[in-house]
Amino acid sequence: MIALNRRNLLTGLAAGLAAPLLDSGLCWAAKAAESSADRGLAAIAGEKGITFGAAMTVHELTSAYRALYAREVRLITPGNELKLAAIRPRQGAPRYGGADRLISFAEEHEMLVHGHVLIWNEWLPDWIKNLSSESIARLLDYHVGQVVERYHGRVHSWDVVNEPIGTDRSPDKWLYPGPFLSALGEGYIDRAFRRAREADPDAVLVLNETHTERGDSFGRMYRRRLLRLVDRLQQDGVPLDAIGLQGHLDLSARFDPDGFLAFLEQIAARGLSIQITELDVDDRRVRADVETRDHKAAERLYTFLSTALSCPSVNVVVAWQIDDASHYYTWLARRDDPQGRRPLPRPALFDHQLAKKPAWFAVARAFSEAVPRP
Ligand code: XIL
Repeated sequence: MIALNRRNLLTGLAAGLAAPLLDSGLCWAAKAAESSADRGLAAIAGEKGITFGAAMTVHELTSAYRALYAREVRLITPGNELKLAAIRPRQGAPRYGGADRLISFAEEHEMLVHGHVLIWNEWLPDWIKNLSSESIARLLDYHVGQVVERYHGRVHSWDVVNEPIGTDRSPDKWLYPGPFLSALGEGYIDRAFRRAREADPDAVLVLNETHTERGDSFGRMYRRRLLRLVDRLQQDGVPLDAIGLQGHLDLSARFDPDGFLAFLEQIAARGLSIQITELDVDDRRVRADVETRDHKAAERLYTFLSTALSCPSVNVVVAWQIDDASHYYTWLARRDDPQGRRPLPRPALFDHQLAKKPAWFAVARAFSEAVPRP
């Protein structure tokens, strides 16, 4: 059996191995390399009416990163700086410094800003956990109103609620637990959307969810639950514009293109647009050399993204951080592997030296093959 890596893939193409490789859909690197040269992904996606962005944290406000983001993206998602724990680490004066700096950077480069995130039952400061239900309700109204009004006209779209769906398989635990759910029940979601709409009638309001890209029974449960929630919100007239699907692609989970596309079409049929909000690849369980891991990541990205883009309602794609060295992955690696026994994960489109990886070419190819958006 031939081991596929980028070098022997290209050599193989030249030597007439092209047909089987083309048939198996593995020629992304060769094709993209010839077509996309030095253009950034924002330009390649933009030609099809697709907005390409990336998460950025204050740690990437250095000159090398600024130049890379300026070339590659048209939209910035502040990675942590708009989370409730970042704005309100303590009760009292809010801290907007980090978010302000990232949003100014985006504006200097005429990029859009996606606000992540207003209400999430995770990543909360401890002081919230001791509040009464009435205080939680007041905090929700106050927080959503204040943050959305502050950035009125500067933030194009908001993840109003993040990860509402529960991981527990028992049907009565179908929503993710936490202080907002405990205090207000399912209605916390409605309340957050209505408050956000009041504070900025023009912003795109997004419900953001994880795990739906998994082709296993867990991913399918997430899809069913998310559609059930969307139907209920729409019946009750909640102002919802788009669904955000995070797109953390786990190489140890199966991907089912047909099932995933059917799910996207069900969202589109409800009149909602779709954003891929946190695209990256989790390769931590692949035991192989770097070249093989990078190749598998690129293949998965290409298959996932070309499937997603075949649904015309998908109009925004955001990578979660731009390179392997970024803060998030250090955290991901440490949390999962505190002794550092396994190699660092390689989830992103650029490597530790900010050089393009096969993943970049896979994404470029998916964009260049996409049907132009209406
Ligand atoms: C992550 C950040 O990237 C990390 O820096 C932080 O330590 C933890 O949170 N889904 C989400 C994001 O919606 O907010 C998470 O971001 C990644 C998973």
